[in-house]
Amino acid sequence: MKNILEAPFMIEMIRTVTNMYAHGWDERNGGNVSLLLDEAEVSEYLDTDKVIRTIPTGFSAPDLEGKYFLVTGTGKYFKNVQYEPEVNLGIVRLEDGGENARLLWGYSDGGQFTSEFPAHMMSHAARLGVDPANRVVMHCHPANLLAMTYVHTLDEKEFTRTLWQMCTECIVVFPDGVNVLPWMLCGTNEIGLATAEKMKTARLVVWSLHGIYGAGKDLDETFGLIETAEKAAEIYMKIAHLPRVNTITDEMMHQLEERFNVKGRDGYLE
Ligand code: 13P
Ligand code: ZN
Repeated sequence: MKNILEAPFMIEMIRTVTNMYAHGWDERNGGNVSLLLDEAEVSEYLDTDKVIRTIPTGFSAPDLEGKYFLVTGTGKYFKNVQYEPEVNLGIVRLEDGGENARLLWGYSDGGQFTSEFPAHMMSHAARLGVDPANRVVMHCHPANLLAMTYVHTLDEKEFTRTLWQMCTECIVVFPDGVNVLPWMLCGTNEIGLATAEKMKTARLVVWSLHGIYGAGKDLDETFGLIETAEKAAEIYMKIAHLPRVNTITDEMMHQLEERFNVKGRDGYLE
């Protein structure tokens, strides 16, 4: 067996959560990340028949039966993951229609996966339905996106259009826009279901007064997606209280669509 701490997926996960912490998106235990793994790549590092313990999930997710995930632990600080990956991360395989997770590695202090596991797993199932290449679900608390939910309408079209107007490349990076949930109690199956539903039409879902979810094919892409939306929100928070003299018009956005071969969400541009 190869050393799992040298697995590319492990190295990338550790680097990503460390970087998220460095960006200030994940105070204390804030945020959580899950990465879908192939059985073949896991088998190089772990005996997949060796189950450490079984953790009930509290929901069912038949589409994810037999799938492996590397997931951050609940209550764990992203700043510590690089020093103690085996305590702060875990690898699980979903079984019994998703109702049980078999722990194969990690959570070595007796811990378990993030309290947002329902939102992560349900979002994986939703995104895989739209894009079979999707492997990552990422949640964090970036300050400017969060701030924006206090002062901007939560209407999804308006929220998306504002972000698109803040940086020229936003419409290129997230042409599907940003979906928005009202405040809901976190860590529940209800917010998980609501997030997954929103994930069917966009790869970014804002949790009002809480944070954001992103989904993508790999950790870099998903990080970059949130990074771009957060940059746009930062610019909004810098200018929202000032008279706007210039803006990115819908006509400019149509030029971007053509130049970068993307299509902004239907009905969002004039
Ligand atoms: P966990 O520590 O359970 O991952 O929760 C952090 C968080 O951001 C909840 O929304
Ligand atoms: Zn959170």
